[in-house]
Amino acid sequence: MKKSVRRAVIAGNWKMNMTPSEAKAAVEETARLTNGMSGCDVVLCVPFVDLPAAIEAAAGTHVKIGAQNVHFAEKGAFTGEVSAKMLAEVGAEYVIVGHSERRQYFGETDETVNLRTKAALAAGFKVILCLGEVLEQRKAGITSEIVSMQTKLDLAGVSAEEMANVIIAYEPVWAIGTGLTATPDQAEEVCALIRRTLASLYGDTVAEATTIQYGGSMNDANAAELLSKENVDGGLIGGASLVPAKFTKIVEAAQA
Ligand code: PGA
Repeated sequence: MKKSVRRAVIAGNWKMNMTPSEAKAAVEETARLTNGMSGCDVVLCVPFVDLPAAIEAAAGTHVKIGAQNVHFAEKGAFTGEVSAKMLAEVGAEYVIVGHSERRQYFGETDETVNLRTKAALAAGFKVILCLGEVLEQRKAGITSEIVSMQTKLDLAGVSAEEMANVIIAYEPVWAIGTGLTATPDQAEEVCALIRRTLASLYGDTVAEATTIQYGGSMNDANAAELLSKENVDGGLIGGASLVPAKFTKIVEAAQA
């Protein structure tokens, strides 16, 4: 199977930006500007409170809306958290799990990332599972060990069938929000390694069908080259997704 048969997915991660009214305007603008660009899926992952406004604004358009996290329990005493059932009822279709900012600032581990992934898949979501090495690990030459370990731990107990709803986002932590982008060759090398790890877990068919994104300072200037790589099937975009015109350029780059 070739890259051309995998579905390209360009997803925005707004992080803690945009109020509901700003979200409505940005979703409308993004939908308008990317209208007709059917060569990739277009997803915006928005703050929880923006979900209703974003979903309403995206209704009837090609833009899909996602959340940025989900708890693994069905319900209960987990102050500040949101369940998969709650997200499903408001109409979110995607959810980011394991973003490095969750791991770095909110104590997420591969164990909790795995629990959240399984809960989201059980509820029917498409999961954007983020993983990647920190700078010290890259410098120590253990990127491949770290990334293959995260892939295995985060997907433990996820079935081959469920993999149809999993997108992996390779995000080297040193490249997120720093303006430092992995070179296209660095991105390709690690995305290919993730695919080999998936093949060892699930076999070649699942590995070849799984969308693997690159994320970390992807922007309108560098997207085309990154996306041209055989194993880079899309992007998870932070900063540049907040400006619909810039985000659109990345969606455009994914049309080839
Ligand atoms: P960035 O963020 O594009 O602002 O580097 C990417 C991400 O954190 O998903």
